Amino acid sequence: MKIAIAADHGGFALKETLKQYFDTQNSPLIDLGTYDTNPVDYPDYADKLADFILTKQADLGILICGTGIGISMAANRHKGIRAALIYNDFAAQMAKEHNNANVIVFGGRTMTADEVIRYCNIFLNSAYQGGHHQKRLDKLDSKE
Ligand code: RB5
Repeated sequence: MKIAIAADHGGFALKETLKQYFDTQNSPLIDLGTYDTNPVDYPDYADKLADFILTKQADLGILICGTGIGISMAANRHKGIRAALIYNDFAAQMAKEHNNANVIVFGGRTMTADEVIRYCNIFLNSAYQGGHHQKRLDKLDSKE
């Protein structure tokens, strides 16, 4: 599975830690920036990652800003993107099982790296349940 990651300056440090972790799992992340702590605008990184997912250059995206809120808002404006801000173990599991998220989102200033790594692994080890959930996902993308 190809996983891409992008962050603003508020998520830069956590992005670097996640990259190191995924390297140790022999599953390197594709880094779409930002590449330092200079202030940037989170919608630009959400757009870059959303385009990357929608053009099938990666199977899953990870987005990080300070809280995860702004970058979630921006990502979810793209039709076909289902970005889930993960905040606990159960949400990590449901984001896959029920929502089939194609982007998972974290807060660089609100979560520890250990928590986020655990959430990533719960998500990656869960399976989309399909069935009646698919009808709901179809409704998301039926809006103008
Ligand atoms: C940037 O200072 C901060 O506003 C941003 O990272 C994010 O938390 C927005 O939702």
